[in-house]
Amino acid sequence: MPEKIDYSSKIPNNVGLADDRRLQRALEGWQPKFLNWWGEMGPTLETQGVYLRTAVSVGREGWAHFGHVNVPDYRWGIFLAERDPDRRIAFGEHAGTEVWQQVPGEYRADLQRLIVIQGDTEPASVEQQRLLGLTAPSLYDLRNLFQVNVEEGRHLWAMVYLLHAYFGREGREEAEGLLFRNSGSPDTPRILGAFNEETADWLAFYMFTYFTDRDGKYQLGTLKESSFDPLSRTCEFMLKEEAHHMFVGTTGIDRVVTRSAELIREHDTLDIAAHGGIPLDIIQRYLNFHYTVSLDLFGSETSTNAANYYTAGLKGRWHETRRKDDHQLTADSTFLDRPRADGTWDTEEVQTLLALNLDLRGEYIADCRNGLNRWNKILADAGIDFRFALPHPGFNRQVGLNAGHHITPEGTIVDEATWEANRRNWLPTAEDLAFVRSLMHPVYERGKIASWVAPPGNGINGQPFEYEYVHLP
Ligand SMILES: [Fe+2]
Ligand SMILES: [Fe+2]
Repeated sequence: MPEKIDYSSKIPNNVGLADDRRLQRALEGWQPKFLNWWGEMGPTLETQGVYLRTAVSVGREGWAHFGHVNVPDYRWGIFLAERDPDRRIAFGEHAGTEVWQQVPGEYRADLQRLIVIQGDTEPASVEQQRLLGLTAPSLYDLRNLFQVNVEEGRHLWAMVYLLHAYFGREGREEAEGLLFRNSGSPDTPRILGAFNEETADWLAFYMFTYFTDRDGKYQLGTLKESSFDPLSRTCEFMLKEEAHHMFVGTTGIDRVVTRSAELIREHDTLDIAAHGGIPLDIIQRYLNFHYTVSLDLFGSETSTNAANYYTAGLKGRWHETRRKDDHQLTADSTFLDRPRADGTWDTEEVQTLLALNLDLRGEYIADCRNGLNRWNKILADAGIDFRFALPHPGFNRQVGLNAGHHITPEGTIVDEATWEANRRNWLPTAEDLAFVRSLMHPVYERGKIASWVAPPGNGINGQPFEYEYVHLP
């Protein structure tokens, strides 16, 4: 007999779980499998309590409760943003009508697919990051890693809730599949490429939380516009938590660049590897890699699937309601750059409705530039000439119209031999990875930090950097 679960305490929620026996039973069946997965595929480091934020309600006060928590006992809750009773569909063929509280039969398969694809990324990142707790540069960073991990676990719960509550038996089967596929597994990999790459070191972790979690932000932003109201409200709340993941990435890279700049000035050389810092060209190559695999997550530049999802009202654009157009997009056109076999670029005009992935990717790229500006300002303020650059969107792509072409970070189309000859200047080499890995040693004394990264400007929730964020055995 499985033990009876006290839902209001064990699974904090605002979806009326205590009153829904069918849903309770479904989650009762799934929860032990989740905990099993967390034990096997989640963080490997054992702790005796991590200073974590737990959401216990969606209100301004409720979603950020801090305290030391034994990680496997974290209360993964189910939260939807407050319902707006006047919310209407903002785009597509149903524009102007009431949003849906149930799944319309004709869109069932498509909505389920969208939820499964989003849901698959959440546990994948926990799997990718599972070894990082062995080498965190400080207790502060270790705490942030656990925070990101438990929230990705909660995002999995959020998607599983939708599958269980609205998609019947098929939904329950898909919920099992979310635990069955594993990042990097040769036989049952995660659905999207970037989520099968390993996050092997802490520079990769900061890059992942900057570039790949940011892709997540934009995907969630399109689902937040969905006519299926429970999906919209779920994503709205997830976006709140996602902001912290990107904060970890933004400030993490800030701190690496700050430390590298200090060492460059101190030793008057860009070659700071011998002094325990990460050279700027290695940081650039990491950035190139993580940015381009994240661009692949936006899919093909033109997509009839994305157009159909839009017309049906399943998935909108970033900030759909703030856009000043007809929200149908059948009469508008967009230009896109296409590489030609002769090594020149062609500009093609396509219907805007078909280029929604390109539209979202454009919003994302503009956002990524903010990070580049920050890191370049750190270098400029330190009087260092080096500047980071975002590669051309055609560089190193496996998905879309640039895949199969050899395009430099500057956007020049070259032949394969030229590309291969320069690859080591553009993407992390085996030596880069080995060097960065050689710097990764755990620093778990209070107030101490590794050689290759600067301490944070502020602690978490008003605590100082020296705070004991994680109790270790
Ligand atoms: Fe997430
Ligand atoms: Fe995230």
